[in-house]
Amino acid sequence: MQNDIQKILLSKEELAEKTTALGKEITADYKGKNPLVVGILKGSILFMADLLKEIDTHVEMDFMAVSSYGNEMVSSGEVKILKDLDTNVVGRDILIVEDIIDSGRTLAYLADLFKYRQAKSVKIVTLLDKPEGRVVDITADYVGFNVPNEFVVGYGLDYAERYRNLPYIGVLKPEIYEEK
Ligand code: PRP
Ligand code: MN
Ligand code: MG
Repeated sequence: MQNDIQKILLSKEELAEKTTALGKEITADYKGKNPLVVGILKGSILFMADLLKEIDTHVEMDFMAVSSYGNEMVSSGEVKILKDLDTNVVGRDILIVEDIIDSGRTLAYLADLFKYRQAKSVKIVTLLDKPEGRVVDITADYVGFNVPNEFVVGYGLDYAERYRNLPYIGVLKPEIYEEK
């Protein structure tokens, strides 16, 4: 599996250091608020697990799974809910956890959805931000790293459902996606 990686963009150590820093910031901002931390399946799960361990105040956690509609629908920004929250968000402080913001469609939809459902506040923490990919105007409140417009995998991010279990973020060798 590691042979398929052209270069490592963010090492395990860099990811851990940033996750600790983000956890400290989130701890300070959410002390006493008991936020609902919402992981967006599946990409966020490795980051979510590591981030939660660095947050030193009470939180609750829940998950959502969503998927974008087909390409013909891209301009609508519509996403389909595959798994909804188990938790009622009315009056709650919501912290959405994502692995990456690319076009911004997923997060724009979710942020609007939670506001519509009368959350008290909605903030976003994303490990990676790819500003060049942006189609919808959305910014995260906490960003780990900006990444270039390359196909990145690992630490939750997949190519055709593989590579999520890499402990670092890397760039795939072009022949891997060209051979399909
Ligand atoms: C990826 C990623 C984000 C989203 C970002 O998820 O994990 O959730 O795309 O893209 P956007 O900003 O253009 O909406 P994907 O839909 O591939 O599902 P996955 O997390 O299960 O891999
Ligand atoms: Mn995702
Ligand atoms: Mg994916």
